Amino acid sequence: MTDLPEKHPVQTEGVKTALEAIYNWNYDSEIDQVRTLYANALDRQWIAMKDLDWDRDIDREAFSRSFTMGGIPVSETRFWKSLPVDTRWDVARRTATFMLSNFLHGEQGAMMVAGQLVNAVPHMDGKFYASTQTMDEARHVEVFAAYIRKLGDVQPIAPGLKKLLDSVLETDNWLLKAVGMNVVTEGLALYSFRDMRNQSEEPLLKDLLTLVSRDEARHTGYGVKYLSAIVPTLDDPQIAEIEDFAFESARLLIDSRAGLSMRDTALQLWADAGVDPAEAMKALIEERELIKNSLERSGGRTGPVRGFVIPTLKAIGLFSDRICGHFDEMFEANFQGAFGSIADDPFDLPEDLEAWALS
Ligand SMILES: [Fe+2]
Ligand SMILES: [Fe+2]
Repeated sequence: MTDLPEKHPVQTEGVKTALEAIYNWNYDSEIDQVRTLYANALDRQWIAMKDLDWDRDIDREAFSRSFTMGGIPVSETRFWKSLPVDTRWDVARRTATFMLSNFLHGEQGAMMVAGQLVNAVPHMDGKFYASTQTMDEARHVEVFAAYIRKLGDVQPIAPGLKKLLDSVLETDNWLLKAVGMNVVTEGLALYSFRDMRNQSEEPLLKDLLTLVSRDEARHTGYGVKYLSAIVPTLDDPQIAEIEDFAFESARLLIDSRAGLSMRDTALQLWADAGVDPAEAMKALIEERELIKNSLERSGGRTGPVRGFVIPTLKAIGLFSDRICGHFDEMFEANFQGAFGSIADDPFDLPEDLEAWALS
């Protein structure tokens, strides 16, 4: 068994939060679907340092063979294959460390929000479930930190993600916490973990993401099931407030106009590995047909927001024409209509999230 890391990155930053801690004297189950999720969570607990084989070294060759950037299969391009083996490993390692560091920081945020939800949600089923999620997230922080330790140093949190975590921690409204964390942030994470798990050929990372994705499917399921039970009881202004918060949360992560996008940081990593980022981008753009064909073969991903978060919001009843217009406008500004209108998207939310996460 591997010991926990002796040195952790020190971060003494804080954010003031306010919420009302709600008692519930009724101990009977009120929302059966949420109680069932709690039972599933108990059944599927695992131990980070025991259930994964940490003695394995990272398979460098497998790691750089399956290198992708934001879902783009870079490792299939002629440009990638033309780089020296050491450079490929260096770029793959630096990019993965950056991505995984942000997953790690996101997991810390999820752990703190889940802890808040134990207090803030009004139903006993919701409190039980949030207690198990707090435990799950502690384990996720543990595994990502341990994996990154094998790759390099933990990188600082991306500004957009930090803003998002702050706003979810700060709000006193549990419905906004649930939509900002369990629907938007964890929906995005689940989609990204699934993508990385399907594309990575590095055995330890694949095993780790399998266990984490199974938990995340449940966390997203909590958002869907709990909010689906509550939203029909709310009035229009309350629903609009939740929709706006969901939109703002997604915007912080994907809208490059906010000036917080991860793209610039990711490109800087190429420079650190000795590859001119402008040259790299030019070479990749020249191979756009190959990239497009490869994406089509793998099911034509539309990215985490269109491919998962929006179908989730639709399933809950949080996707009015008004908020659809906001999303359309953001996609148009960022991708110049490359994806068409959201109304034409084919993707529905899978019935069984856990089966989908592992497919
Ligand atoms: Fe997590
Ligand atoms: Fe989670």
